[in-house]
Amino acid sequence: MSTSTGLRRVLVTGGAGYIGSHVIYALQQTRRYKVISVDNYHNSFPASLTRVAQIARDTLPENPSEADKESTEIDVFQCDLTSPEQIKSIFERYDKGGIWGVVHIAAYKAVGESVEIPLTYYANNVAATVALLQTMSDFDCTRIVYSSSATVYGTPPVIPIPETTRLKADSPYGKTKVMSEMVIDDLCHAEPNRWRAISLRYFNPAGAHPSGLIGEDPRGRPGNLLPLLAHMAIGRVDDATLKVFGNDYPTPDGTCVRDYLHVLDLASGHLLALDALAPESAIFDNCPDDARYKAYNLGKGKGMSVLQIVEAMRKATGFDFKYEVIGRRRGDVPDLTADPALAERELGFKAPQPLEVMCRDLWNWQSMNPQGYTQQ
Ligand code: WQD
Repeated sequence: MSTSTGLRRVLVTGGAGYIGSHVIYALQQTRRYKVISVDNYHNSFPASLTRVAQIARDTLPENPSEADKESTEIDVFQCDLTSPEQIKSIFERYDKGGIWGVVHIAAYKAVGESVEIPLTYYANNVAATVALLQTMSDFDCTRIVYSSSATVYGTPPVIPIPETTRLKADSPYGKTKVMSEMVIDDLCHAEPNRWRAISLRYFNPAGAHPSGLIGEDPRGRPGNLLPLLAHMAIGRVDDATLKVFGNDYPTPDGTCVRDYLHVLDLASGHLLALDALAPESAIFDNCPDDARYKAYNLGKGKGMSVLQIVEAMRKATGFDFKYEVIGRRRGDVPDLTADPALAERELGFKAPQPLEVMCRDLWNWQSMNPQGYTQQ
């Protein structure tokens, strides 16, 4: 479970990705974990791990201990999580119980794409999660933080959205997140004395580490609003006109509202969740029927519309974005704004960084890396 210097080994799936690399950064900053990264690089670049390890080394304290130095090293594996054999081959490299916990971030996440290729999404997001859990069980690794999503709420009946809201995803992507949460929940009910698990329902992560060394760099044209605006401002996409997917929603300016939070605040939520899985944590003490499973929203509790985001990016980049309103995008819902009270109360979660900082850090990353990681 621990290394020779006393660090807890934590395996991060999707470690090279936008969220994964920032979670690894946060884990390394604690100097309490030794990170294992597993990624298939379908939508990420290995270079991100080189950069994040560089940040860890650059931020080492004076006279670092052996544990401090070890915490800057990442065990890096390229692995397809849809292959149980590949997952097993990684766990076999460590003693049984040698991995303290898993942060499971790897998933395909494009709502529209999931409608076109649902089987690929169910295989990669659900079947792979089951295979991962089976291997974890075989190797006595029974702590998991699962990357879930606000899309599990579908079109929520109440805004801001509490965790008690019924789960009713509208897209295959969202359904893969609901199903994976249910798989983990059932496992914790089946073996309450073995498993501890937390699902984190991400709202809309944005921004980048202020160094500009790591950031969001999807392969191909970004589907998400903020990285697309950054690509437009840096000249990485031809059309200088943003297509706004509908302005006839029941929202203040008619465009969709989302709850954007800084990716480093989101990453800090993962550290708090991992701490909550430790034996000394009391977070599951009042769980019904002893199952040690909980789900938390990670959001600011502040909704911003598409047009407000465009304006914020106009200020951050100085780029004069033009936009054209077209039809709605399939799978979009009017408003996904979190009620963050449960995570704030039980995990001590906070997401203080404002939209201006998210846009500033996103633009700093994009300006320093006009072609993303591929420029390396
Ligand atoms: C935001 C708003 C669009 C692009 C994302 C991920 C999803 C999940 C939640 C993790 C929407 C509008 C966008 C464009 C636009 N992540 N938009 N023109 O849809 O909330 O989902 O976060 O679980 O996997 O996709 O974020 O950035 O795609 O869209 O008008 O060219 O911007 O309609 O209202 P979304 P997004």
